[in-house]
Amino acid sequence: MPEFAFQRCIHPHCGATADLADTAFRCPRCGGLLDVAYDWGRLPVPKSLKEFEAKWADRTHPLNFSGVWRFCELLPFAPDDLVLSIGEGQTLCQRADPVAAYVGLKPGRLYLQYEGMNPSGSFKDNGMTAAFTHARMVGARRAACASTGNTSASLAIYCAATGLMRSIIFIGSGKIAYGKLAQALDHGALTLQIAGDFDDALRRVQEVSRQLGIYLVNSVNPFRLEGQKTIMLRVLEALRWDVPDWIIVPGGNLGNVSAFGKAFAELTELGLIPRPPRLAVVNAAGADTFFQLYEKYGVRWNGGRPDDVKIAAYLKALDDSGRRADTLASAIEINRPVNLPKALRALERCGGVVREVTDQEILDAKAKVGAGGLGCEPASAASVAGALRLVREGVIGADERVVCILTGHQLKDPTATVAYHTSDPKTFDEYLGKRGVKRVAFANRAVQVPNDLDEIVKAIELYA
Ligand code: F0G
Repeated sequence: MPEFAFQRCIHPHCGATADLADTAFRCPRCGGLLDVAYDWGRLPVPKSLKEFEAKWADRTHPLNFSGVWRFCELLPFAPDDLVLSIGEGQTLCQRADPVAAYVGLKPGRLYLQYEGMNPSGSFKDNGMTAAFTHARMVGARRAACASTGNTSASLAIYCAATGLMRSIIFIGSGKIAYGKLAQALDHGALTLQIAGDFDDALRRVQEVSRQLGIYLVNSVNPFRLEGQKTIMLRVLEALRWDVPDWIIVPGGNLGNVSAFGKAFAELTELGLIPRPPRLAVVNAAGADTFFQLYEKYGVRWNGGRPDDVKIAAYLKALDDSGRRADTLASAIEINRPVNLPKALRALERCGGVVREVTDQEILDAKAKVGAGGLGCEPASAASVAGALRLVREGVIGADERVVCILTGHQLKDPTATVAYHTSDPKTFDEYLGKRGVKRVAFANRAVQVPNDLDEIVKAIELYA
């Protein structure tokens, strides 16, 4: 085990540490969340982010090919020969002027970071490669997660591709996207369908992992978040190391925002960037715990002592009223975000805000992103819908530079996409109308034509 990395409680007043090999992923003293921490003073840290560019010339080396491990000096917890990569992180940060116009930003001010290009189709692979590497370091044989689709697909693909572990996935009944279930099954995961939703499945998988000593890969695992830090490094790389004004990210379990906040805190501390960008987290209105707690109830990091009484009272009220998370954006249909304290810390460090957007806003934003050439799933489009809100509110200025994170690929939740564009009122109503979506502003309807050459030619001349 490398000497200069360990795990540390995120709460400064506790500060207990745990061995790098510990897999409980809870502070041994106070039960809080853990960070992977480094003794930076004794590690070879680059003097400038530009130094990473040297790795571009050496892409046949698997570590340099990976969009995660080419930044290994900034997540130095693993010896090189134990790193497991399947080529994750080959993703794109694309300037998106038509989408900028939609959200009210000037040309050249909006970029979309497209994480759907990862091997399993979502940002999760950034974290999974890091968690797998840690699992290999500790000799784990079985790994588990709860999932609405992307984490399970990612876990299953890493297990299948590396043959290192057996994957066990917990899903809520009827709460997994079909395409993602297909990946888990195809890649040979043991799939357990629990009567309940994601919040129930996550609670159970933590209990079971503790009891059976199974390696847990949900984002409560701090090694996953080490990998996810690199999404921000690639954004900076694409912007030629200039820090944007804003990063906007959908919020579910709040792993990404926590990882991004940690990345920017470390980069600032190491003198590699002059200042962090501001962070905006976007909840779906049907799963808005973080928005409510942060913006309505004023809960803050408060030096590591967030108001636990207020948080517990809010969650109890949710339970008492039987209110379950409910949004078409399945990946962020989460009412009990496990990384809440870390996310509060990230917003404090980066001057953050939280917003909520309706399914209607999400689907309209998704259609605009799709028309601009990037296919994302509904949860991902929450970031663009959030940008629109923040520009309208004047929180983001029209010439600020903004990066929205598109967390997952279009092929998740395709039913919602087809129902959005359909000309069949029954299909629309069944999937969207019933769930509160009233209009489709940007539908691209299929054209019905008879099986007749002249009619087909006529239709093409008319519409294209
Ligand atoms: N976007 C996508 C595409 C996701 O799959 C998820 C989480 C999120 C956003 C939320 O990210 O937790 O970092 O705030 N998906 C989990 C899953 C629930 O099971 O795949 P977060």
